[in-house]
Amino acid sequence: VICRKFSHSASLNAIKTVTVVGGGLMGSGIAQATQAGQNVTIVDLNSEILEKAQKSIQNNLGRVARKLYKDDPLKMEEFVKEANSRIKVSTKIEDGVDADLIVEAIVELLEPKQKLFNRLDELAPEHTILASNTSSISINEIGSGIKRKDRFGGLHFFNPVPVMRLLEVIKSDRMSQETYNAMMEWGKSVGKTCITCKDTPGFVVNRLLGPYSAEAFRMFERGDASKEDIDIAMKLGAGYPMGPLELADYTGLDTNKFVLEVLYQKTKNQVFKPIPLLNKMVEEGKLGIKTGEGIYKYKK
Ligand code: 3HC
Repeated sequence: VICRKFSHSASLNAIKTVTVVGGGLMGSGIAQATQAGQNVTIVDLNSEILEKAQKSIQNNLGRVARKLYKDDPLKMEEFVKEANSRIKVSTKIEDGVDADLIVEAIVELLEPKQKLFNRLDELAPEHTILASNTSSISINEIGSGIKRKDRFGGLHFFNPVPVMRLLEVIKSDRMSQETYNAMMEWGKSVGKTCITCKDTPGFVVNRLLGPYSAEAFRMFERGDASKEDIDIAMKLGAGYPMGPLELADYTGLDTNKFVLEVLYQKTKNQVFKPIPLLNKMVEEGKLGIKTGEGIYKYKK
């Protein structure tokens, strides 16, 4: 019994293989950050998304390589090749289930997430830890149908994942201490500083960014100041790397709208109430950098 117990907790603490489900912006970023320490598989049902993820990882690794080995093109190439060899992709979930940790980064909707976790719970080995990268949906609700509630929680990354140093580790109600320790250790091993938060709406960062970005939209909507001046103000007056409107374009106005909706629904706090300008822009498909237009216009 002692032996079995030992090997169980040892396997929990040593995350060596990781699968990321969802190859979008966050998923590919998580995979890119992970490959520095472990082998990683990206699973996405859409092969085009996987191709795009591989291209974007390749480009970003190239950036890192150029920085590391400025004057040595051979070493640059070797670095990118080696990093790429640690990343596999597949359109089949079965190819990714045999992992120590599975991080979900699919569409921000409760039902598809629940379905995916129920499936992963059935297919993955006993010791596998399951985690969601949701930005605002309740972790406990996402995992309500799974059996391994002790090996489940939230791992919330920030965009751009390879650069942003924070990882929010979200404690689900029935998460075990071993799982929590394993998640914290793993976060550190992929170069992140981990903070812990209970399963509360928006966790720490989005709960605080929500009112800030909402008020920036309202300021712009009221015409209190120009979009440029709102952004300059927060960069030079508060030391933020991007202004709130630039950041909204960067993360996507649809994501902003969604996060605010969840926060409003869960907290009933008026600071999160719908913003007509934001709703209109999302309706018109002006989602920010990814569509070529948001608060600002971008060259495609
Ligand atoms: N992979 C690897 N390296 C990358 C990269 C990537 N994807 N993207 C940027 N970099 C590197 C660059 O090579 C550069 O490295 P260097 O300084 O050593 O040369 C460095 O990161 C800075 O990049 P840039 O020079 O291109 O641009 P900036 O200096 O303007 O920085 C930024 C860009 C890091 C995005 C910065 O503007 C920033 O921190 N913005 C705020 C981002 C933020 O707040 N994110 C959180 C959003 S909220 C969220 O994600 C929650 C979710 O739930 C919605």
